[in-house]
Amino acid sequence: MKGIILAGGTGSRLYPLTRSISKQLLPVYDKPMIYYPLSVLMLAGIREILVISTPLELPLFERLLGDGSRLGLEITYAEQPVPRGLADAFLVGADHIGDDEVALILGDNIFHGPRFSEVLRRHARNIDGCVLFGYPVTDPERYGVGETDADGRLISIEEKPAHPKSDRAITGLYFYDNDVVDIARGLRPSARGELEISDVNQVYLDAGKAKLVDLGRGFAWLDTGTHNSLMDAGQYIQILEHRQGVRIACLEEVALRVGFIDIDTCYRLGEESANSGYGQYVMDIAVRAGSAHLTPQLARKGTP
Ligand code: G1P
Repeated sequence: MKGIILAGGTGSRLYPLTRSISKQLLPVYDKPMIYYPLSVLMLAGIREILVISTPLELPLFERLLGDGSRLGLEITYAEQPVPRGLADAFLVGADHIGDDEVALILGDNIFHGPRFSEVLRRHARNIDGCVLFGYPVTDPERYGVGETDADGRLISIEEKPAHPKSDRAITGLYFYDNDVVDIARGLRPSARGELEISDVNQVYLDAGKAKLVDLGRGFAWLDTGTHNSLMDAGQYIQILEHRQGVRIACLEEVALRVGFIDIDTCYRLGEESANSGYGQYVMDIAVRAGSAHLTPQLARKGTP
């Protein structure tokens, strides 16, 4: 399965923050925003990832992530000169997808929850149609909204409805079989002039091939679309990280856990930013996993 991160758009709702930098590069507490969706694709076991952004901002993502080889990934980049809607990702990314399945994640979506990796891997296998991830929210009118029948089967999808039929938002993570490229090619722009992801999903729904996975309570799907929600997301990450002594969406740690890099590579990556708490954490992770090296911090604590 291939991965695509859509990191375009003007981010105008966050002006002036986003006047000179892409929204998906803004900090969410201790990491650039794109680390969070990238970690989700990695947790799903995906290595080949296309980042789509504007010509102006693409070089910034490239400076941050490079070709991904340090993390055992293959990251490539493609331009979307003007925002033409989320479904345009399948046209821009058609070559990248080839004849494979694809996971699309929006570069500003933050997911965090228990055993998420298992959920992702389970649903990434043998996709016949599309897999959507639903999440109950208090403001469904801001999102794509899925309506289900008594058995939990998806029966309708509406994009930002004035009168939502349920409180279940369709989150910005989508798994598709290879038909998605042809479906996207057949779309017409909506009233707001965009190729809508909800229209793609509707085609699958009409064919009886749209599956909805409920993320439900106990899971966090965080919004970063307004100044307040961006701050809330940062504080959520900060509180959990401080309380538990872990880092959420630490790419080096994820790469180690899913087997994309080995322990010594992890240690070396941490050492490269040893001046920051983040780098220290990456070294600690490697040491705990069995690296022969000793970080100064762990050595101080006397931890093996
Ligand atoms: C997009 C999709 C919407 C989805 C949302 C998730 O909306 O169109 O269906 O629920 O992402 O973040 P946007 O945030 O681009 O307006």
